[in-house]
Parts: sequence; C-alpha cells; structure tokens
Amino acid sequence: QLPKQVQIKEVGPRDGLQNEMTFIPTEEKIRLVNRLSETGLNYIEVTSFVHPKWIPQLADAVEVLKEIKRHDDITYAALVPNSKGLERALDAGVDEVSVFMSASEGHNKSNINKSIDETFPVLKEVVDGALAAGKTVRGYISTVISCPYDGYTKPEQVVYVAEKLFEMGISEISLGDTIGVGVPTQVDALLQEMLSFYKAEQLAMHFHDTRGTALANVMTSLSHGITKFDSAIGGLGGCPYAKGASGNVATEDLLYLLHEMGIETGVNLKKIQQTALSIEGIIGKKLSSKLAAIARGE
Ligand code: HMG
Ligand code: MG
Repeated sequence: QLPKQVQIKEVGPRDGLQNEMTFIPTEEKIRLVNRLSETGLNYIEVTSFVHPKWIPQLADAVEVLKEIKRHDDITYAALVPNSKGLERALDAGVDEVSVFMSASEGHNKSNINKSIDETFPVLKEVVDGALAAGKTVRGYISTVISCPYDGYTKPEQVVYVAEKLFEMGISEISLGDTIGVGVPTQVDALLQEMLSFYKAEQLAMHFHDTRGTALANVMTSLSHGITKFDSAIGGLGGCPYAKGASGNVATEDLLYLLHEMGIETGVNLKKIQQTALSIEGIIGKKLSSKLAAIARGE
C-alpha cells in the first residue's frame, strides 16, 4: 500500500545552484524562487549560509532570502553549518534551519572540515539557537549508502548520527545518497534499520540520480511509507565536496511518477516544467531531466 500524499521539498535553488560552475546572478536566483513559489510547492530550500569561500555560488544568501516574495503557506529553508551561519540566516528571516553532516568520516571531513564527533557540539549550538528563535530544524545525513572516500556506509553508522541529531531536538532527518550510488536493496536495508527506531514521518529521502537509480529508490522508500522527498528542479544539484556527485532527482520526473500513480503532491507539473525551461538560458545548459526534455519538445 503506497501513501496517498507526498510532500516535495524543492532543493534546487540550494543543492542545484551550489554546484553550478558559474555564479548565477542574485536577481535570477530570486526570480527562480519566486517562480517556484507559484507552482504549489509548500517547501523550498532557498540557499545556504555556509562559508562563502567554500561555496562562492551562494555568497548572496542573505540578499536572496531577504528579497524573495514570501507566501504564508510556504516554508523557506536554508542550510546552516554553524553559529556564524545561523546568525546570517536569522538576520535574513529563514523559516526553517537545515543542519547537515555525514554518516562517514571521509565526507564529513572534506565537506565541513571536522570529524563526526567534533561536529555534534557545533550543530547542537545551531539547533539550540534556532529553537530559541522559534525556528524548526531539519537535519541532513549525507553519504548514507556510500562515501566517495570511505566506501559503503553501514546502516548502524546512520543510526548513530540520527540518534544524536534527534536528541538535539530536530524535527526531521533527510537521508542523503549524496553521490547517487544507491540501489533499492540498499535503500531497503537502510530503511529497515532506521524504521526500527524512528517513524516514517520523521524521515525524508534525498536521492541524487548520478546512476539513474533515484526513482527506483523512491519506489522502495514509498513502499516503506516514506512521504517526504527532496528533489531539484531540472535535476540540478551535487555536492562540490563529494567527487562524482551529480544532480538530485528532478522534481518534474518525480512529480510525473507520483501523479501517474495517483499520489498527490499539490504541485503543478506543467508549471515546474516551464520554470525548468526558464532557467536553462541562465545556467547555460540543457537540463538533464526527462520531463524537461519533453517540455522542450524533444
Ligand atoms: P572552517 O574553515 O573549518 O570554519 O569551515 P571555522 O569555523 O574554522 O572558521 C573559519 C573562518 O570562517 C572564521 O573567520 C569564521 O568566522 C568564518 P575568521 O575568524 O577566520 O575571520 N566562518 C563563516 N563565515 C560566514 N559564514 C559561515 C562561516 N563559518 C565560519 N557559516 C565550514 C567550516 C563548515 C564553515 C565550512 O567547511 C563550510 O562552509 N562547508 C560547507 C560545505 C558545503 O556547503 N557543502 C555542500 C552542502 S552539503 C550537501 O550538499 C549535501 C546535502 O545536499 C545532502 C546530500 O546530498 O547528502 C545537504
Ligand atoms: Mg544533496
């Protein structure tokens, strides 16, 4: 029995644009988020308050978050790595804070310059500060299937990190197949382990589609009762600190799959396709998603 309704968390403006080679002009980022706000999405991850030296593509985070046209029924979230980032995010009026770390040491070190155990106190400070400011906090765990430095990740490693994050008071964990290597049997094993500790409502899945397995992994997750999925318009995305990481599962491809199966999302597929096409000129390339190709008339 599959869920009847699924929530899409659009991460394109963050996961997508952090990985583009060129700096997308601030006003284009704002325009993209504003267009996404008109598609029926109720959750958009707008940007990231990481160190601008590490991710120069999103150095304009404060400006973007401040200048988008807000809708009351949409949560505008952003990535926050530490207290310095939280300060900037709160100043810009973030609705929900996303903290992030990895299940594997190699990627955690390369991505945020700390060991796993050194990361917890840093994130605890962020969570405490965000909760005190009346914000909810979501936690990403990256490399949940495999790590580009350490190889396969054991489900127990994911539980170890998840437990510490939930103890801090975060409301949801997003499980990231950062480099898009996962296949359904691996996702099944991971979710069996996670769901022996947590409820499906506490989890979201974040699939990168590097090897074309993302939608298959979505199906496996749905069969476990997962109802929240991260996706990026056009299939943009990737982590610059994970070699080989490429796009997230494309929002439009995910919507097609869900809607054809009778699963509601509240998001208008046509509007997402049009928005995808509207950014091709700005990022200077054709988007990789199947439903963008169809919208181009190919
Ligand atoms: P660090 O160099 O170890 O930082 O970087 P530090 O704490 O030692 O501070 C050094 C200096 O940076 C200080 O300045 C800080 O104030 C400043 P100084 O006192 O020397 O003048 N600083 C900052 N400035 C602005 N904003 C900040 C900030 N923090 C420190 N937030 C840090 C540590 C975590 C900051 C760095 O490693 C970093 O920014 N990493 C981010 C990497 C990243 O963004 N990766 C991509 C996102 S994760 C992802 O894509 C995966 C995901 O999609 C899920 C999945 O797919 O699995 C979420
Ligand atoms: Mg990602």
